[in-house]
Amino acid sequence: MENRFSSKTGPIGIFDSGYGGLTIFDKIQKQMPEYDYIYLGDNARTPYGTRSFEVVYHFTRQAVAELFKAGCQLVILACNTASAKALRTIQQRDLPAWDAQRRVLGVIRPTVEMMDTVSQTKHIGILGTNGTISSGSYTLEIKKMFPAMTVTGEACPMWVPLVENNEFDSPGADYFVRKHIEHILSIDPLIDTLVLGCTHYPLLINKIRKFLPDGITLFAQGEYVAASLKDYLHRHPEMDARLTKQHTRRFLTTESAAKFSEAASLFLNQPITVEQITIN
Ligand code: DGL
Repeated sequence: MENRFSSKTGPIGIFDSGYGGLTIFDKIQKQMPEYDYIYLGDNARTPYGTRSFEVVYHFTRQAVAELFKAGCQLVILACNTASAKALRTIQQRDLPAWDAQRRVLGVIRPTVEMMDTVSQTKHIGILGTNGTISSGSYTLEIKKMFPAMTVTGEACPMWVPLVENNEFDSPGADYFVRKHIEHILSIDPLIDTLVLGCTHYPLLINKIRKFLPDGITLFAQGEYVAASLKDYLHRHPEMDARLTKQHTRRFLTTESAAKFSEAASLFLNQPITVEQITIN
């Protein structure tokens, strides 16, 4: 296994179960355009949000190994579900065996770090997939960092399919968006910050705003994950030195390349070339 990861320099890898991570990738590439990137979407096996811990870990581990094989020195799990269910085990169990110099980082920690700054009431709501909410990862991380905060999670299982099927702007989406916003705010009316804890959700932002009472901040992660990565590389020059900077981008998907490039244009507003791969 170790020999498969022999390169000492290479791109930054960005992983998501499908398209959602493109919302994170877009912010990262805007803040750090000079780096090389490989984006991998496991579209053939999406969604991850409904799957068990074991399955999400197994799939995510395979995807990270694939990005390492392609030369990536640092991989961002641009997926809340994978960050919640697989990140810790990969960091603690797999990385030391594969290559202790490489790194895998998630999206939950950079989001949680911002909560104290954005919330006045210190009552936070997390919107996410079933997997992210049932893992309790956000609550645990927020409580660890800010013990006095109150955290309420709301699983929104229909939101990813609405985005994946290009229905996020349709009138039909109103019902599912309104339902979850009203529900979480009825559980804790003191919530003043709602976190979009799934990388697909920024595409629903206009729809969500429509049903949001005044005075509630919608927190999208992209900017903060990008800023946190920039800061991480500033603090870890040894990792920064391993990252190549030729402005290149590669997009890999486990499903049809044509389908991915069509959908990706919604997320990135630019045409891209995509390669289909098999991971196992
Ligand atoms: N984009 C993923 C996340 O951030 C979820 C999509 C899925 O269910 O696969 O949680």
